[in-house]
Amino acid sequence: MSEKNCAGIANANVLEYLQSRRSLSVKYMNDVAPSRDEIDTILKTAARVPDHGKLMPWYFVVFDGDKRREVGSILREAYKTEDPDASPAKLDLEAERFLRAPLVIMVVSRMRKGKHALWEQFLSAGAVCQNMLLAANALGYAGNWLTEWYSYNDTFRSKLGLDGRDNIAGVMYIGKAAQQPEGRPRPEMDMITTYWDGVQPLRKGDDLYDKDKFDVPDARIFGLKGE
Ligand SMILES: Cc1cc2nc3c(=O)[nH]c(=O)nc-3n(C[C@H](O)[C@H](O)[C@H](O)COP(=O)(O)O)c2cc1C
Repeated sequence: MSEKNCAGIANANVLEYLQSRRSLSVKYMNDVAPSRDEIDTILKTAARVPDHGKLMPWYFVVFDGDKRREVGSILREAYKTEDPDASPAKLDLEAERFLRAPLVIMVVSRMRKGKHALWEQFLSAGAVCQNMLLAANALGYAGNWLTEWYSYNDTFRSKLGLDGRDNIAGVMYIGKAAQQPEGRPRPEMDMITTYWDGVQPLRKGDDLYDKDKFDVPDARIFGLKGE
């Protein structure tokens, strides 16, 4: 494909697609994996995101073919730290997590040194994940963006070679859809949108979810710089 650059060119098909796109649970993926060329396209497309400071604060780890089974030994060992009493059957199940889809791509957010807020580096990694879903869809594959317990497990992270600057932004499960997903609720725009007039309070969507179960983290930590 030629390197093409465009901005602000109308495309009704893209709009219609974006307004109907959905993830697909790994439960509903079949075994057909993208080819190597298609994987290259997915990665290249995923990496085409806004990125403050051109830091490229993200990288990929691809688990294809038998590697999805081989990583199971790390998943198994890691799960033992989550639940030392886990039964052999449960450990087998956890070891097979990456086999739920024919292709698994991990998007890792890597904090770069510099003047740009870490929060912005994380956001760019999130954009990579979303672009990856869109690229997979455009090639006719479904995607599911998960993190699950292993993304936060120290054993799993260190055995894979991640260090303190790395955070798993997404483990992207990609495969052909065996069936199409149902819809899910979406926010009403007037619950989360304010046309600012300097008078009315901002509509923050605080009533859209079950807010009483959790504490709110201090969002200011995300303003830290990557120094
Ligand atoms: C960063 C991130 C992590 C997620 N991790 C999980 C997860 O571990 N388990 C899960 O069931 N869903 C997880 N989800 C939600 C799934 O991706 C879900 O399928 C998706 O939000 C469905 O929305 P969509 O159909 O509009 O894409 C995660 C979503 C994001 C953005």
